[in-house]
Amino acid sequence: MQTIRVETPSARYDVITGSGLISTLAPRIERIVGQLPRRVFVVTSPEIWALWGEAFAGSFAEAPIALFLAPGEGHKTLSSVEKLARQMAEAGGDRGSLLIAFGGGIVGDVGGFLAAIYMRGIPYVQVPTTLLSQVDSSVGGKTGVNLPEGKNLVGNFHHPLAVFADIAALGTLPDRELRAGLMESVKAAIIRDRTLVRFMEEHVNDVLGRDPKALEKVIAASIRVKAGVVNLDERENGLRMILNLGHTLGHALEQATHYKVLLHGEAVGWGMVAALHLAKERGTITSRQAERLESLIHLYGPLPPLKVRAAKLVAAAGLDKKNIGGVRRFVLPLGIGDAGVVQDVSAAELETAAEYMLARATELHA
Ligand SMILES: NC(=O)c1ccc[n+]([C@@H]2O[C@H](COP(=O)([O-])OP(=O)(O)OC[C@H]3O[C@@H](n4cnc5c(N)ncnc54)[C@H](O)[C@@H]3O)[C@@H](O)[C@H]2O)c1
Ligand SMILES: [Zn+2]
Repeated sequence: MQTIRVETPSARYDVITGSGLISTLAPRIERIVGQLPRRVFVVTSPEIWALWGEAFAGSFAEAPIALFLAPGEGHKTLSSVEKLARQMAEAGGDRGSLLIAFGGGIVGDVGGFLAAIYMRGIPYVQVPTTLLSQVDSSVGGKTGVNLPEGKNLVGNFHHPLAVFADIAALGTLPDRELRAGLMESVKAAIIRDRTLVRFMEEHVNDVLGRDPKALEKVIAASIRVKAGVVNLDERENGLRMILNLGHTLGHALEQATHYKVLLHGEAVGWGMVAALHLAKERGTITSRQAERLESLIHLYGPLPPLKVRAAKLVAAAGLDKKNIGGVRRFVLPLGIGDAGVVQDVSAAELETAAEYMLARATELHA
């Protein structure tokens, strides 16, 4: 069991990771809030509830009221939030109610946003069940939903009371989801933690074989990186940007393939391959370092093949909402275990990096 502290100007809470948290949740939450309120709601998806609902409910004297969100990005919408809010109101939810978001990143983002706006905000707890949500989306307080016009366009900052990342839950996660989530851990390692780079290189079989000790180590280290960055820059004014390594072209790939071909982590994996090439060209990392880090990415692959043109990706990247005032903010690794943000990446440079990434995808799938 490991505890990582998040401490920002607006919130202080613990992220706890280890095995067996789901089945011991009620006493753990009581330790934070005192007595549980009269109404406890759990926002989850039918699949997760079928797998883990019994274990989840076991530790509560009175079973929480379950509210269901159908799986898939297509349900991460305002209308889902409205539906859930109405179910809460109907079931007597008030300002003292507690909400638990129990599922992957989609459940976490929707559940967190619901908690942020229901009666102007109620307390909530994150219980992430995918690797990606454990190491990334449940930590940092960002909540929200998609619009047809773009992803995550409506949302808020609302920190949970605590995050319980149960490694046992990963036992039922499909392999592809595990590998994709691990790309965010690779990212964390590259930008902030060279010890984690080495650990992930040396323990690939243990991690992919879901050895609990190896997973706990990777998950705790990744959370520590995210929490460390968020503690210094809660609202993404500066440093928090480095968490977007691989995301400029990653988002472009997701957008160009209409969110249907690649999992987010896979797109980020390819985006990091491109970023490493750009960094090598600029000399912020050596060829050797670029090679080593790209190999690490592929160790946790295979990343899917890519069928898209570089020019299309550059155009898609130009629409990236993270680019303020047309300036391209691009995250570059600096050596191993550090990263910085530059603002002067040209379209041509980005296209070269995208070409390299596409060529690697062709080579690896030849
Ligand atoms: N708020 C943030 O800071 C932040 C950061 C990164 C990503 N996100 C968001 O996270 C979302 C992606 O999250 P995700 O990758 O967890 O995807 P997801 O929530 O869609 O979960 C992936 C799939 O795994 C299933 N699943 C979840 N846990 C399982 C388990 N233990 N066993 C078996 N199946 C399980 C889900 O039902 C789903 O089908 C995106 O919407 C993204 O925008 C948010
Ligand atoms: Zn990401």
